[in-house]
Amino acid sequence: MDTLLNNSWNSNLYDDKISFVSKLGKDVVSLLDPQPNEKILDLGCGTGDLTNEIKRSGAIPLGIDYSNSMIEKARMKFPHIKFQVENGETFRLSEQFDAVFSNAALHWMTRPAKVVESVWLALKDGGRFIAEFGGKNNIQTIDKAVKDVVSTFRTNVSKTNQWYYPSIGEYSYLLEKQGFLVVYAIHFDRPTQLEDGENGLKHWLDMFAGSYFAPLSNFEKSQAYSIIEEKLRPELFKNGCWFADYVRIRIKAVKE
Ligand code: BEZ
Repeated sequence: MDTLLNNSWNSNLYDDKISFVSKLGKDVVSLLDPQPNEKILDLGCGTGDLTNEIKRSGAIPLGIDYSNSMIEKARMKFPHIKFQVENGETFRLSEQFDAVFSNAALHWMTRPAKVVESVWLALKDGGRFIAEFGGKNNIQTIDKAVKDVVSTFRTNVSKTNQWYYPSIGEYSYLLEKQGFLVVYAIHFDRPTQLEDGENGLKHWLDMFAGSYFAPLSNFEKSQAYSIIEEKLRPELFKNGCWFADYVRIRIKAVKE
C-alpha cells in the first residue's frame, strides 16, 4: 500500500488493526500464481506480508513502498527479503522482473500513466502485471460522510478526490496505450469488515483519512468522528462490526 499522499504511515496501527488488507490480498497472490525463482516486484508492499507470501512460493520478491516507516517495519519482520523505498509513480530499477504485483496501493498514486510506464519498464518482455485496488465508486458512502461532516467544522474543505478509482475502461485504456495486453479485468463490490468491532471505523479513519481531519482540533475531530459514525451506522454497521463500502478493480495485463 504505497502512498504518495502520505509517506509517514503508522505502520503499527496498519499491522494491528488494518491487517484485513493483506489477508484479503491473498486472493490477488493466487491470481499472480508466483513460480519458483521468478523475480517479482511488489509495488506498494506496505509492511511486507504479501511480499512474504510471494517469497514462500519460492519466487524472489523485491518489495517497494514510498513510506519509510512501512519499509522499516517490513525489513524488521522479514529480514530475509529485500525491501526498498521508491516512489511508485517514477521508480526506475536496475533489474527487470517476471511480474509486477500490487495490492491496495495504486489508488494512492494519482498519476496513473506514470505508474503504468514505470511498471512497463520494470517488466521483462512477456512479463505480467497483476493488481487490485480501489475501483470506480470505491468508499463513496464513507467519503461523502467525511466530507459533509468536516465541512460543517471548516467551510474550505476540499471536495476533490484525493484517490484514484478508475473504471475498467479507463484503466485498460492506460494499459493499452502503454502497450500492455489486458487479459483479465473485473470490477466488483467488496464490502470489507473492519477490525475491532465498534472501534473499526475509528481505526480506519485514523489510518487513512488523517488529511481530512488535519485542520480540526483534537476535540473537534472526536466530535466529527461521532457524527460520522451516527450518519453511517444504519448502512455500514451490522452485527457489531463496521463494513467499509469497498469496490475493487482487479486486472492482469501482459507486456507483449
Ligand atoms: C482502499 O483500500 O480502497 C482505500 C483505503 C484507504 C483509503 C481509501 C481507499
